[in-house]
Amino acid sequence: ASYDMGGHDTYMHKEIHEQADAVDRVLRGRIDDRFSTVHLGGLNLDAREARRIRRVKILGCGTSYHAGMIGAQMIEELARIPADAEPASEFRYRNAVVDPDTLYIAVSQSGETYDVLAAVQELKRKGARVLGVVNVVGSAIAREADGGIYVHAGPEVCVVSTKCFTNTTVAFALLALHLGRTRDLSVRDGKRIIEGLRKLPAQIAEILKQEELVRELAEEYAESRSMLFIGRVRGYPVAREASLKLKEITYIHAEAYPASELKHGPLALIEPALPTVAIVPDDDLLEKNRAALEEIKARSGKILAVAHQEQEKADRTIVVPKNEDELDPILMGIPLQLLAYHAAKVLGRDIDKPRNLAKSVTVE
Ligand code: G6P
Repeated sequence: ASYDMGGHDTYMHKEIHEQADAVDRVLRGRIDDRFSTVHLGGLNLDAREARRIRRVKILGCGTSYHAGMIGAQMIEELARIPADAEPASEFRYRNAVVDPDTLYIAVSQSGETYDVLAAVQELKRKGARVLGVVNVVGSAIAREADGGIYVHAGPEVCVVSTKCFTNTTVAFALLALHLGRTRDLSVRDGKRIIEGLRKLPAQIAEILKQEELVRELAEEYAESRSMLFIGRVRGYPVAREASLKLKEITYIHAEAYPASELKHGPLALIEPALPTVAIVPDDDLLEKNRAALEEIKARSGKILAVAHQEQEKADRTIVVPKNEDELDPILMGIPLQLLAYHAAKVLGRDIDKPRNLAKSVTVE
């Protein structure tokens, strides 16, 4: 593809900086202030059907799977429907029980990933209802699905996904709000979420203004042989995605772990040469997260926190703007996209085309 890079040195850099506009697009025309909900024209799911859903299962690969993990949490929180995400590649091969009261959602930037498409086809063959959360209009997965949401991120050229990830998480917030408002989410909470959604583009712009600080940090971290990413509940999928982004474009080994599981293994790895990136939202788990930082510090581990306020136990904190608790995961990974990008630059990597990877894997 050859879209204009618009003065950026890579598509990745351009796409990171397009995120405020991209989020604006996924929201546009969808918010209904009168009923504190959203309209999703392509969903093809009426209120009666929405109320009959007993579970939600989200399927995707790579970055889309991580966006789905965030989506599952939002659906569970706002709509109170049990929801989880699973790699489509695993789901396909485990002869999963297909349940008529489960809503299946396939997530894909390209809409062409073979493992996701094959999962959709298998589900449809078994009579399941499948929605798509897809970027590319008219793609195979979009056509195969019974309905869905286009994420309107615009063309994404860099092999690793940034703006589409962010837009996909916003699309899930819209779906969670919509499902919530057909069920037990109050008008008041609906309003609260809508206000939060409207703040996102300006908050993204604010985060991107810290690029210089992140670039300096990246110089320091680019020397690491390995990095640990931790988060708890809302922060965990953010840690997963940040870890994936780092390994994809820098080839630095990175591992993501739930902060709550540190004591069951990864603490053994902690030493000054293994830095930890901790996602520390200002939510009801803040104190628990602080305790984890303390555990790491006590073992001389170096810590970079992404948080809503300066973290005393961290060596450095990237402070991001606070949104509603449920929407915080949409924002918290954005500085870490920049961290991966600048670390890859220091290392002289081929950022838009990392070795051994393809933008979409359309074969078995
Ligand atoms: C490939 C790409 C990833 C992407 C994944 C899923 O592995 O390198 O960046 O997340 O496919 O792609 P999709 O188009 O289905 O979101």
